[in-house]
Amino acid sequence: MLSLTIQPARSIRGEITVPGDKSISHRAIMFGSIAQGVTTVRGFLRGEDNLATLNAFRAMGIGIEDDGEILRIGGKGLHGLTEPADVLDCGNSGTSMRLITGLLAGQRFFSVLTGDRYLRNRPMGRVIEPLSRMGGCIYGRAGGDKAPLAIVGKELAGIAYSSKVASAQVKSAILLAGLYASGETEVREPHLSRDHSERMLSHFGAAVETFGGGVRVAGGRELTGREITVPGDISSAAFFLVAATIVPASELLIRGIGINPTRTGILDILIAMGADIELLDRREASGEPVADLLVRSGRLKGIEIGGDLVPRAIDEFPVICVAASLAEGRTVIRDARELRVKETDRIAAMAANLVSAGVEVVETEDGMEIIGCERLQGCVVDSRGDHRIAMSMLVAGLRASGPVTVNDVECIATSFPGFAELLEKVVAR
Ligand code: S3P
Repeated sequence: MLSLTIQPARSIRGEITVPGDKSISHRAIMFGSIAQGVTTVRGFLRGEDNLATLNAFRAMGIGIEDDGEILRIGGKGLHGLTEPADVLDCGNSGTSMRLITGLLAGQRFFSVLTGDRYLRNRPMGRVIEPLSRMGGCIYGRAGGDKAPLAIVGKELAGIAYSSKVASAQVKSAILLAGLYASGETEVREPHLSRDHSERMLSHFGAAVETFGGGVRVAGGRELTGREITVPGDISSAAFFLVAATIVPASELLIRGIGINPTRTGILDILIAMGADIELLDRREASGEPVADLLVRSGRLKGIEIGGDLVPRAIDEFPVICVAASLAEGRTVIRDARELRVKETDRIAAMAANLVSAGVEVVETEDGMEIIGCERLQGCVVDSRGDHRIAMSMLVAGLRASGPVTVNDVECIATSFPGFAELLEKVVAR
């Protein structure tokens, strides 16, 4: 098990790019594979999660070439996938497992999906239940809630589904099944979750239509291969946004970041806390808005976070907790129960780790309260196998009075290969 130790920083300065967006990279492989003709992908994230998706589609007969810069996917149309000869391993990636389950429910073959010990413990009933209503036939452990999942491909029929959770994975799994279903498939959600599937499916020529509170897709329409440029991942930029905010005398330019409004909760939250962040050179790439982010150190104050802001910042809460620990006053996070079923229970993990760093934290069922302080204490903490917990605690170490050691950091490679090296490049001590 690898550990990393981080020393306090004096400043963070320079100009960086971060790897491509994880959600968009997954979708580029999936949609490119079932489109007709070639899809090229620039800026693809070569993290372990996305490579799990890539390998799954190769195992279903799709040719995918990678010259190190551009990925070329030889799409075979809606019914071009072939039965995989072995179990498909999604590793740590919930997006791979949930979206691929939706896609495989309507195939004319049998398949089995598994993942690592963390993924095998995450809830899958949330996708299996609606897919079953469409006519899908999916078996799993724990009464059908946990992987490994066995999928017997079936003819599907469109449904109108109201999801209890605002989850892009649930929404996307149903939309992918909807491409194969008869009639129309409609998904409503309590708050809008990330809409990359809707945007990219339209880009590929699917009959997708969004309306207040939901989205619908018509089944049976073939997709056409496209050129995709993946923007930098705002969820990866978030670690640097917080780092440059909490370390004094910092100024950092982060180029080419996706600023899809369903993902920019982190910007709204940090700016509401008093952070100094500017969006420069706004532009568009493959139907997604992009900008350069200029961040300078700032004095933060505690705020209340809940409601529809939560899905817009869902992956950023671990690092938001770090920002809150160094803010003046109290930060309250609520309506964030979903954090308990991420790669780990992120409420419990961050509460325990911040307490080790000397912070006053009260854990609640759907969030936590954090009382900010001037400086954290050096400590030894555990990532619990969760990449975002590992990176957040390394960022915390930049503003501690002594070294912070994070155990079990291999998981960082799932979403952000090269994170520690990039951070060291811009830190001055
Ligand atoms: C993702 C959706 C979110 C997010 C995950 C990626 C996606 O999960 O946490 O990292 O690519 O659709 P939920 O749909 O479970 O909220």
